[in-house]
Amino acid sequence: MSVKLFEPIQLRDVEVRNRIFVAPMCQYSSVDGVPSDWHMVHLGTRAVGGAGLVMAEATGVVPEGRISPGCPGMWADKHVDAWRPIVDFIKSQGATASIQIAHAGRKASHAPPWEGSGLLSEDDPGGWKPFGPSDLPFDEDYAIPQELTVDEIHDLTDAFGAAAERSLAAGFEVIELHFAHGYLAHEFLSPISNRREDEYGGSLENRARFALETAEKVREAIPDHLPLLVRISASEYVDGGWDLEQSIQLCKWLKDIGVDMIDASSGGNSPAQKLEPYPGYQVPFAAAIREQVGIATGAVGLITEAHQAEQILIDGEADVVLLARELLRNPYWPLNAAHELGHDIKWPVQYERVKSA
Ligand SMILES: Cc1cc2nc3c(=O)[nH]c(=O)nc-3n(C[C@H](O)[C@H](O)[C@H](O)COP(=O)(O)O)c2cc1C
Repeated sequence: MSVKLFEPIQLRDVEVRNRIFVAPMCQYSSVDGVPSDWHMVHLGTRAVGGAGLVMAEATGVVPEGRISPGCPGMWADKHVDAWRPIVDFIKSQGATASIQIAHAGRKASHAPPWEGSGLLSEDDPGGWKPFGPSDLPFDEDYAIPQELTVDEIHDLTDAFGAAAERSLAAGFEVIELHFAHGYLAHEFLSPISNRREDEYGGSLENRARFALETAEKVREAIPDHLPLLVRISASEYVDGGWDLEQSIQLCKWLKDIGVDMIDASSGGNSPAQKLEPYPGYQVPFAAAIREQVGIATGAVGLITEAHQAEQILIDGEADVVLLARELLRNPYWPLNAAHELGHDIKWPVQYERVKSA
């Protein structure tokens, strides 16, 4: 009996060897946006561990688009040069190399978690003034963002396109746009963070304009044979805020633009969000989008067990699963999951002698 989790998936001309994707995870370990040896080991280990697709973390399309001064970037050629050997290693292990390109909007300029994640003001070393659709802070201890002008919005859309081109030059085969978690695109989408009165605010069409123009620009920058993924927050769990219904409409528009898969996450745009996560808590979003939009989806969030992951695919709730924290605890999760599900998987030749029987 074939195991769904280990069936390859075709994303345009890219065949991913199985349906276990490494979710993007900030490592706060770059200098001036340049990824480091840490990324080689962190991402490389998960490729060795058998994941189908390994996605590099939220990577700033401009310096001000980083969450922290330690986040990576893709705004200069030096970034392409630094990412290339990491990408080459991921591919050498049979995994697909992917990158999430991002702009952190009003949630930019924070310290890494091990330094408390606090706001870095313009006066702090490494800090800067964040931008957003409106001058509304995320929370009391966050910066009041500077409202973007229409020209600046257009420049950012172009920056996403340029970052996509650079990502391809570095060898990445799959690009994901980070439109989730209360970062810039999500801030535009949500009436909670977007109070603009021009063509980028107000109606759903207007709030979606930045996301759609960005997706269009990036789709144009990518050749037809390569796929484009988008991560959204399908709900922000606040009355009167961004919700599944609006997400479904957004995903229909994204599908028309040529987006190939929706990575269905949630939350992150309001400290008032009401959420009690439980295993697979975001899977219903992936299922609803898959069914109502007719687009491939990725399920993410507290997926930690092989049988749980397999069942999501068997039930047709998603086309792939993305794992984050469990793959930090155990980068060899895919190899072990294959054993648990009775699927014969190829281990790296260097480790073959210790493969579970
Ligand atoms: C250390 C860490 C860093 C993260 N960084 C990102 C990121 O760069 N981009 C993103 O979209 N989500 C990020 N996330 C969220 C994960 O991709 C994932 O959606 C979330 O952790 C839920 O999945 P899990 O239960 O498997 O951990 C991060 C999560 C963790 C734990």
